[in-house]
Amino acid sequence: MRAHIDTEPSKAERSEKRSMKLVVLGATGGTGLEIVRQAIERGHSITALVRSPDRLNPFRGRITVEQGDLLNSAELEKVIRGHDAVLSGFGPRVPISKADAHLRQQFAGALTSAMRRAGVRRVVIESVAFLFKNSVLPPAYLLGRLFFSGTIADTSAMERVLEESELDWTIVRPPELTDKPYTGKYRAREDHLPRFGFKISRADVADFMIRVVEDRRADVADFMIKVVEDRSSIRKIVGVSN
Ligand SMILES: NC(=O)c1ccc[n+]([C@@H]2O[C@H](COP(=O)([O-])OP(=O)(O)OC[C@H]3O[C@@H](n4cnc5c(N)ncnc54)[C@H](OP(=O)(O)O)[C@@H]3O)[C@@H](O)[C@H]2O)c1
Repeated sequence: MRAHIDTEPSKAERSEKRSMKLVVLGATGGTGLEIVRQAIERGHSITALVRSPDRLNPFRGRITVEQGDLLNSAELEKVIRGHDAVLSGFGPRVPISKADAHLRQQFAGALTSAMRRAGVRRVVIESVAFLFKNSVLPPAYLLGRLFFSGTIADTSAMERVLEESELDWTIVRPPELTDKPYTGKYRAREDHLPRFGFKISRADVADFMIRVVEDRRADVADFMIKVVEDRSSIRKIVGVSN
């Protein structure tokens, strides 16, 4: 049962669109580009730290692009300082090379210490649904163990680093990502992959991640199909799917 909430935001608070200063990591990737595009539309101010700035040329003049090393904690700290939150669609390019076997874990280590030093607490990070051991249909963990054991190991390590940090994290775990358009018709469930949740578009994942970071609690709770006890997404793992 959902707990009673006496801190529910007022109507005015709910409709207010607060512009945030967001750092987007993995901004040149499939989900990252969608986060950037949608966050601009929602009036947020965006800084992206990337290794290949040219990929963000379509957004030239509308966002701040910094070139640098996403595994370097000092570089991350410099970029993140003064922002409200970090959104990450970072992940190894596929096929995953041997050199990238521990990329997510390294990234999480660099990011969490950079955020601590920069004094920025809020982070929403994209992970993978393979980590849901309780998912029956699809059998996410089994499929992951059989075909993507390296991904399971590295994303588990990444999540552990986040969980052990003092940060206000939300981990978003999608199943197979598609490049289909935004629908807004997806499901989100705390600690579970929604039933029969086989796919979701990157655009819908981006939408969810932005909503979560905006922390419009009533909004987020609606998406979480009545499973969020306190309506907060902080320190929660959430499965999202179509
Ligand atoms: N593919 C799926 O079906 C699926 C399903 C569930 C979850 N996921 C996870 O969801 C996340 C987003 O996936 P996606 O397919 O949208 O992302 P993607 O298109 O593969 O983009 C990955 C992003 O990470 C960046 N990146 C990778 N290695 C880097 C490095 N060493 N240094 C700096 N930047 C680096 C890439 O930058 P460049 O542009 O410079 O390469 C790019 O911006 C990933 O963590 C992925 O594992 C994927």
